[in-house]
Formats: sequence, structure tokens, C-alpha cells
Amino acid sequence: MASSSTVTKIRKLTGAMVGIPPRHIDFLFPDTTPKYFYAGNATATTFFVMLSGFFPPGERYFMESVRHFRSHVKDETLRAAVSGFMGQEAIHGREHDRMNEFLAERGFDMEAPDRFVKIGLGILEMLPHSTRLAATTFMEHFTALLAEQLLNDDGFRQHADPEMIKIWQWHALEELEHKAVAYDVYELVGNTQTERIAAALASMIVLLPMLGITWTWILAKDKQLGNIPDNIAGLLALFGPKGFVSQIVPRLPEFLQKRFHPNDHDTTELESIWRDKLFSEEGQLYAQHNNRIA
Ligand SMILES: [Fe+2]
Ligand SMILES: [Fe+2]
Repeated sequence: MASSSTVTKIRKLTGAMVGIPPRHIDFLFPDTTPKYFYAGNATATTFFVMLSGFFPPGERYFMESVRHFRSHVKDETLRAAVSGFMGQEAIHGREHDRMNEFLAERGFDMEAPDRFVKIGLGILEMLPHSTRLAATTFMEHFTALLAEQLLNDDGFRQHADPEMIKIWQWHALEELEHKAVAYDVYELVGNTQTERIAAALASMIVLLPMLGITWTWILAKDKQLGNIPDNIAGLLALFGPKGFVSQIVPRLPEFLQKRFHPNDHDTTELESIWRDKLFSEEGQLYAQHNNRIA
């Protein structure tokens, strides 16, 4: 006979039940993938190489900062959302590790992100636990903005290699699905605007130089720093008037507002469109998605 605790376990909500399913995907990194997978441009490509190198250690930092306060979460829906967040971020780290091995085989110096970004994260680890979580909520805001831009910007995506863009689209969708989780946990442990501002500043002061150094290092080791036409075209694609990064910068300060919440900016329709594009039976990743029921 099933005990009441067994019944409780069976009914326990999962991340998938609250719209945050950790999806196991077999991404393909075929030999035919061009080395400069973004528009044949080394400068823009290495920006994404740098980001991919940052993700595994960065996402472990995010997970650790949320895990520290997991016991504070009593609400069953938020507990399930935290499980979904942990699952998604763990798989993101694992898949970017795989991608980073492929990029290393292609000749990019993938030890550079580890060397430099870990210095920055090591400094952020000295902060009090609640400030670390506040820093995570800021970086989740930043990644959600990047994700939304990537999914909305058809012109930008069209310049990317069609196979390589899939991992970025999957990651972007899941960043939007779980964009409020760390913040909702932070609300439980005492969200203050002052701490959020301090954490955002600390994150930018510590991480932006490290990301810049990593990007420049990878580009220099690849002998493409000083390839002026390539450098200018890549910088314009990212930081020009209609550049990929330029378009998210105006929205970064939303995080500093007193009454900020990630869900105030509704992305549910965009998420639904992309769930369909990627994971419906005709979707780009349907055949590579290994745990469809989850
Ligand atoms: Fe992620
Ligand atoms: Fe995330």
C-alpha cells in the first residue's frame, strides 16, 4: 500500500511541470562547420567563443549562489522552478564544455576563459552570500537580454552557421524560461535595491575587463587581432549603431530600478514561438532532443 509520503513524492512538481524543462540535446559539431562560424568573421566569432568559454564556470557560479539558499524556498512551485533552473544550467555548462572542446580542436585557445574568467568569479566569491545571489540575478538579467536579442534578431542570426546557431537558440530559449528563478529566490532572502546596485557594479567592474581580456587574447592567439577589416566589421556587428550588443545596453539599467522584476518584461510569446520552432515534431532539434517527456 502506498504511504502518504509516497503519494507526495509521486505528485512532487518538477521543473518541466512549471515550464522549465531541462532538455538533453545531442548537439552536432560537424567537421564541415566553418572555423569562423559567424559571418566568416574572426572578431565576431571569437566574441561568441569567449562567451561559450565563460558559460561553464559562470553557470556553476549561478547554480552555487542559488543552491546556498535553496532551503529557504518553501513554496512548491518555486522549488520546482529551482530544480528546473539547476537542471537547465547544469546541461548548459555540460554542452558548452563539449562545444569548447570542439572549438579547441579548431585552434582557439580555450584555456584562456578558464584562466581569466575564473579570476573574476573568484573575486565575486568573496562577497557575502546574499550579494553573490544579487550578482547572479544581474547576470541572469544580462543573459536574458542577450537571449531575447538573439531570438528576435533574424538578420543577425542569418549570418551564423545554421548548425552552430542551434546550441545558441536552445540556450537562449531556456535562459528566458528560467529568467526569474534566481530573482524569486533573492526576493525570499531580502531583496534590496542598494545591494542589487552594488552587486551589478561589482559584477561589471570585475567581469567586463576579464571578458574583454579573454576575447582579445583568443583573437590575438588566432593571429586575427590587427586584421583591421575583420576587426572593424566584427565590432560593428556587435557594437555598431544597430549592433547585437548595442541593442541590449539601454535595457541593462532596468535592473537597478526599485521595483524591478524579470517578468515585468513579458517574453512568453517569444518563448512559445521558439519552443515550437525548436521542439515541435517539425522543430529543428526534435530528433536530437532525448528526453521529450521530461
Ligand atoms: Fe545558461
Ligand atoms: Fe541562466
